[in-house]
Amino acid sequence: MVIGESTVVTGLEHLNAPTDEIVLDIDSLKKYYAMGGGFAFFGDKQQLKAVDDISFNIRRGETFGLVGESGCGKTTTAKTVLGLEALTSGVISFEGTDISKLDRAGKKNFRSNVQAVFQDPWSSLNPRMRVRSIVGEPLEIATSMTKKQIADRVGDLLTEVGLNPYQANLYPHEFSGGQRQRIGIARALSLNPELIILDEPVSALDVSIRAQIMNLLVDLQKEHNLSYLLIAHNLATVRYMCHRVGVMYLGRIVETGATDPLFDNPLHPYTKALISAALPSHPDIVREEIILPGEVPSPINPPSGCTFNPRCPMKIGEICEQLPPKLADEETDHGVSCHLYTNSLEAARAKDGGAAAAISAEPEPAAAE
Ligand SMILES: Nc1ncnc2c1ncn2[C@@H]1O[C@H](COP(=O)(O)OP(=O)(O)O)[C@@H](O)[C@H]1O
Ligand code: SF4
Ligand SMILES: [Mg+2]
Repeated sequence: MVIGESTVVTGLEHLNAPTDEIVLDIDSLKKYYAMGGGFAFFGDKQQLKAVDDISFNIRRGETFGLVGESGCGKTTTAKTVLGLEALTSGVISFEGTDISKLDRAGKKNFRSNVQAVFQDPWSSLNPRMRVRSIVGEPLEIATSMTKKQIADRVGDLLTEVGLNPYQANLYPHEFSGGQRQRIGIARALSLNPELIILDEPVSALDVSIRAQIMNLLVDLQKEHNLSYLLIAHNLATVRYMCHRVGVMYLGRIVETGATDPLFDNPLHPYTKALISAALPSHPDIVREEIILPGEVPSPINPPSGCTFNPRCPMKIGEICEQLPPKLADEETDHGVSCHLYTNSLEAARAKDGGAAAAISAEPEPAAAE
């Protein structure tokens, strides 16, 4: 099956069955970047809100997908989980422990157990290193394995990702894009991780190669009961690979739920627009494309209230401009952050103690599905 650029594939029968055990738990994560220049009166520096209060979790054997347009905060989320960026606030817990509280041994364990595969196999593989060094490097650093043991393990890993052990002597430029991504996956697997963060793992590949790499990742997940955080802007990739999905817009998750219900019955106007722009899974399925007006606003000065309000074709009125809707936080349910799913402005104001007009108010809980 070839999965096209935006063809949406349905059905999750090909995926692993996750357990209930939570491997990664993200609670109210924020990552703001301080911006230089601009107006900075009274120490009130401008901030770019790359990730603005997101929560989700990933279970053992599960793929959770973060999907959204470029710039919505997906990679920043990945970087904070990997410790490549310091978080502004929030808690990231791995196997029940807040990772900011890990001791030396705990940090080492975390670094072995959480690996990453990035979009561009060109820039993520050192061009001057042979494949055996690229794949074996984590083993050299983090284990006391002998050279012979590492060489054997590298051979096994290359076989597992569909390459030949003799290719260990080659350099990255001697491989195709798909093969280079296989090398990146072999390296990520070398320390037997529990969780792999896949940041746009197939976006740079030819469409014909994407399905092969996606199937490899799905097979490896089944074999090792791996958990994946999959980051993608392509809906077909997310639908094919993910058990659950979070849709991001301007640093926030606006809708989350199990993949099929979310794709079959999107609730948030932004999700509806995203899905309407993808090709349906069958030519007989008629779908009207929703064209959103305008551009994604800057995360430096995001719109007040619901940040989607300047582009929303279903905007209700002033509540959308004044009161940020909150995402229902039952992770396993279909949650949506939109006032269409709360009762009315009056009800929201009453619940909020009349703070709707004061935009600094705590956001209102919005109903789930
Ligand atoms: N180091 C940084 N400094 C300032 N802004 C950044 C930095 N990294 C990312 N950003 C900004 O954060 C926002 C989210 O970026 P990113 O997480 O890369 O989005 P995505 O991966 O969804 O395309 C963007 O507006 C981007 O310009
Ligand atoms: S809260 Fe209002 S502006 Fe935001 S998505 Fe819902 S209807 Fe649209
Ligand atoms: Mg990105």
